[in-house]
Amino acid sequence: MGLVQFENRFFPENLKVEAQKLVPRALDGLKAVQEGTCRGHEFVGWYDWPKKEGFALAQDIQNFVNGLDTYCDTVVVIGIGGSYLGTRAVSDALSHSYGPFLGRSGRGPRRPLMVYVGHHLSEAGILEVLDLLDDRQPIVNVISKSGTTTEPAVAFRVIRSYMEKRFGKAESSRRIIATTDPVGGALRKLALEAGYRTFEVPPQVGGRYSVLTAVGLVPLALAGFDILPLMQGADRVFASLEGGTNLSQHPVIQYAVHRTAAYLAGSRVELMSIGEPKLHNIVEWWKQLFGESEGKEGQGLFPAGLTYTTDLHSLGQYVQEGVRNLLETFLQIEESGHLNSHGAQPFERRLRVPASTDNTDELRYLEGRLIDDVNRAALVATKIAHFDGGVPCLGLSIPRLGEEAIGALFAFFEVSCAVSASLLGVNAFDQPGVEAYKKNLFGLLGKPGFESLGQEIKKRL
Ligand code: PA5
Repeated sequence: MGLVQFENRFFPENLKVEAQKLVPRALDGLKAVQEGTCRGHEFVGWYDWPKKEGFALAQDIQNFVNGLDTYCDTVVVIGIGGSYLGTRAVSDALSHSYGPFLGRSGRGPRRPLMVYVGHHLSEAGILEVLDLLDDRQPIVNVISKSGTTTEPAVAFRVIRSYMEKRFGKAESSRRIIATTDPVGGALRKLALEAGYRTFEVPPQVGGRYSVLTAVGLVPLALAGFDILPLMQGADRVFASLEGGTNLSQHPVIQYAVHRTAAYLAGSRVELMSIGEPKLHNIVEWWKQLFGESEGKEGQGLFPAGLTYTTDLHSLGQYVQEGVRNLLETFLQIEESGHLNSHGAQPFERRLRVPASTDNTDELRYLEGRLIDDVNRAALVATKIAHFDGGVPCLGLSIPRLGEEAIGALFAFFEVSCAVSASLLGVNAFDQPGVEAYKKNLFGLLGKPGFESLGQEIKKRL
């Protein structure tokens, strides 16, 4: 059985028929990615990455981390978009939410804390990281494929200056690792000059498809996550797409054709809904992947995320009765249970609704039931209600929460996204729209070469 399952029980029958009509084109799209003939083919290095380079790279990175002789209790990840979202997705999914506050009770983190900076331009946010670092022993991983992105570059300047003041130049150089383009870019130059250890972002892998390269593997390994199962999970998905077997019912293909059928029938927003808040940053990663890959040439589903049951008490009303241009995909974990102290299932503890002598809260009917069962019932109830309210619903599931399943999800969504984009006829691997704000920002801030644009903008203010 594959690690990622697909179901369409609550999806309109007529759209199921339309979805199946798209299958031949989806298979062509997949073939074009596999053979490197699709639009943007120079960036399909992520396809079958584990076998191509991933396993060997994961071993090299693990050896590097095992051989580090610098004590570290905090990994500072500096990056934005594809240069940090995947790392955060894995770390947050597999860490105890209150780990840093649990001390030595046994449920606290046995691994370094991960903190993120360079994914915003909030002065307060950067200052708070500096406050934290004063009490910690940090290692810094600055990650930028281009090496020129403003947000991480500004944050890195601050953190570098902090590190050099605190540790001196030589010790800072041991505590800073740069992951960037193998040849060009300001970060590569800076790293060479300062003598930082560097890792490469392969030129043939775009930012949002790069989580299983050094971009994600280095910080995750530094923070003590098991990177090999991540690669194994991804490999299982790629392997299942090989061999010329009949792939028309493959979950990767079925997810792509169903969401595209919904889009062609009028859906404009895809909600990725979760019942487990630990999946929140996996959804954030998914949003970037699909938003940047498909949202161009006036096309694409707008990817949004909902966390249940929390959002049933805010946005649930809109989903049930608002504008009928939604598609909802429920991402679920088959097996339940609390994460253990290493942040992985299975299930050292379960929690049931306690018995009570009085029934003032009217919960007697739930006594003894697992909280997770109540949560699952809420999701089923929600899916049926939303379907009855006119929202086409799809389901994706992984067997349990752990590195292997998350690696599989990464590969599953990457391939599905490339196939979906091929159905729309757009290039899944560029992001020309991101440049517009960047140029305006450079103009406004007076970057050399952007002066006249800056003057034009100022006239409009
Ligand atoms: O998918 C992409 O290419 C982008 O979202 C990038 O990941 C993001 O802009 C960060 O770029 P860089 O790694 O060059 O700093």
